[in-house]
Amino acid sequence: MSDKGSYNVSTMSSRDAELARLRTQAERLYPLESKLLKEWGGLKENHRVLEVGCGPGFLTPLLCKLAAQGQVTSCDTSAELLEICRQQKMEHPKLGFRALHSTSDKLPLDDKSQDFTYLRFVLQHAPERLQLLADVHRTLDENGTVCVLDTDDGLNIQHPESQFVTDLIKDAQKLQAGRGGDRFVGRKIGGYLNEVGYVDVQNRVLNFTTADLPFGILAKISLGFKSDLCGRREELETWIKQTEPLAASGRFFLSAGVVLTIAKKGKSK
Ligand SMILES: C[S@@+](CC[C@H](N)C(=O)[O-])C[C@H]1O[C@@H](n2cnc3c(N)ncnc32)[C@H](O)[C@@H]1O
Repeated sequence: MSDKGSYNVSTMSSRDAELARLRTQAERLYPLESKLLKEWGGLKENHRVLEVGCGPGFLTPLLCKLAAQGQVTSCDTSAELLEICRQQKMEHPKLGFRALHSTSDKLPLDDKSQDFTYLRFVLQHAPERLQLLADVHRTLDENGTVCVLDTDDGLNIQHPESQFVTDLIKDAQKLQAGRGGDRFVGRKIGGYLNEVGYVDVQNRVLNFTTADLPFGILAKISLGFKSDLCGRREELETWIKQTEPLAASGRFFLSAGVVLTIAKKGKSK
């Protein structure tokens, strides 16, 4: 079980639907993520890669592929999700794969033991964000890279406004904040990284519309977790069915965005 924070799959009303959402989100983004981790993040095939907050490990096979000559370590605070991660079908990198249990602010890894660390949709759930990023810094080797992908609700656009969606977004923001989470974390990542010693911080925004993903998938990826948090998963399904024809004809606009921040470990202080 996760020890702290706003993500706990074992208490979710639709655990299987949430796992399906995470799988779709990972698989749909594979080509884009593969490109950006290599081109923008500089991930190399001989790197020792750390995945913090791997969850069920739906992205882990991609990391193992990208670091085929190196090593991948996946960590999570949830023992239940780590077990699912261990069961993913994947080819292990040359120097091995391991899935390790971590606490909310401490990684079970030696100083300077990693070349590249990825946190994907984790920071928004982690109350001890700064301590976690500082510990990632400790475990990175000189010249190591951290790459953080996370949400920012300021990047959601819908038109014409659906009161259901507006309420869902606001309610989820409150609920998540009440559990130490932050749905506006995207814009703050760069500042947090700099505060704990990283340098060369670069922020980017990635936006997705129905030109990138079918409406139903875009809606489930961007609203599914929120609907679960608020106990409104069935209402979301109904809203998607009703809105699909409007979106198909161009009369409903939905866009969801994420922030991708990449930084380097500065020289040790
Ligand atoms: C939304 S899931 C994302 C899973 C995976 N990264 C993905 O993109 O599919 C968030 C994950 O972060 C984990 N998590 C939350 N806080 C954490 C922390 N402080 N350290 C490690 N993992 C954490 C949760 O247990 C959960 O598995």
